[in-house]
Amino acid sequence: MPTLAAAEASNAAFAPNYVPVAIIAGGTSGVGQATAEALARQTKGRAHIILIGRNAEAAEKIIAGFPKPVNGDEGWAHEFVPCDANSMASVRSVCAGLRSRLKRINFLVMTAAGPRGNSLTYCGETNEGLDDHLSMRYFSRYLYSKELMPLLLNAREQGQHAHVMTVLGAGMGVKIASSDLGLVEARRGSIKFLQGVVLSIPAMKGIIRGVGYNDGLVAWFAAQHPNIAVTHISPGQVHTPGNAMTPGWLLAPLAWLFAFLRIFIIISQDECAQYMLHALLDADRGLFIRDNHGDIVSSHVFSPDHKARFVDDSPMARKTGVLNGIPMKGYGGSDATVAGLIDYTERVLAEIK
Ligand SMILES: NC(=O)c1ccc[n+]([C@@H]2O[C@H](COP(=O)([O-])OP(=O)(O)OC[C@H]3O[C@@H](n4cnc5c(N)ncnc54)[C@H](OP(=O)(O)O)[C@@H]3O)[C@@H](O)[C@H]2O)c1
Repeated sequence: MPTLAAAEASNAAFAPNYVPVAIIAGGTSGVGQATAEALARQTKGRAHIILIGRNAEAAEKIIAGFPKPVNGDEGWAHEFVPCDANSMASVRSVCAGLRSRLKRINFLVMTAAGPRGNSLTYCGETNEGLDDHLSMRYFSRYLYSKELMPLLLNAREQGQHAHVMTVLGAGMGVKIASSDLGLVEARRGSIKFLQGVVLSIPAMKGIIRGVGYNDGLVAWFAAQHPNIAVTHISPGQVHTPGNAMTPGWLLAPLAWLFAFLRIFIIISQDECAQYMLHALLDADRGLFIRDNHGDIVSSHVFSPDHKARFVDDSPMARKTGVLNGIPMKGYGGSDATVAGLIDYTERVLAEIK
């Protein structure tokens, strides 16, 4: 397990001979913010860091705190790009804007999540008809990865880092469902007047499924693009503005108990960021499932000419935890369920203009 000191030491060795370009979707708070700050400190501000979120004021404060490079350094920039990640139209338009002005991206880090607060008790749909919990935790991340992939591939072609990292709940091997992928049926069966009062089964399903779907996301993109690194990582329990999940007032005592027990394992967002940065920098290419200390739960480096195969017509393709014939610890997909998930995702996203 990398200790904090080991993670910090490995991060301190990062001194690229180019100006890294990093997109942090969710960089206006919590783990995303702290990861952006750690990268800014490590590069002494000599990086092009783009924070994406909704809160411009928070972004400005964070950016003001980044070190600024000395005169003569070129190519660096620190900026905020607004986006409501609950709207796939908005994510698409932001990505189109980035593609039109950036030549490459070295790091795409995705941490945005929501809805905040009562998320365990509330289920609903976004304006575009997506499950509230899956929209940001999964769909927006899929879209960012897909739409910005050409820029990551450009970075790789130049021999630079090229890494997509989604921060959610890696390593649990949460199985990817094969039916009701968008939780439409689950939401239909939910009892509306109990929302906010007690745990909502569809809400919990949304949160848990997002974890498995992120395994599918990284497996898909890593297998399609064997030359870049793609990671799903867990941050663990972290002191952030958005870390509270309330189970409703009926179960409030349970929440107090959890809050008490968490005291023993929770870490600061700055400490977490060292592990996140370590995972981000310590990967050349391949697929990585990592835990909250940046340790590899499982990984695989594909051959450069790997032909991704996601089919559902063989017994091997239906085995959970096996990716294109490769056993992966802590991975919740099978080739068949990933094929189903991606097919479903593409169909759903195609309907949103
Ligand atoms: N903290 C923990 O203990 C913990 C535990 C397990 C997993 N995680 C996972 O780790 C990741 C980071 O969590 P965190 O605690 O750092 O969260 P956080 O402090 O609440 O930050 C969430 C980020 O998401 C952005 N966001 C929220 N709604 C958005 C929207 N509609 N459009 C665009 N951006 C939006 C926020 O930016 P704006 O407000 O600017 O929109 C903010 O930058 C999440 O995926 C979370 O599920 C966290």
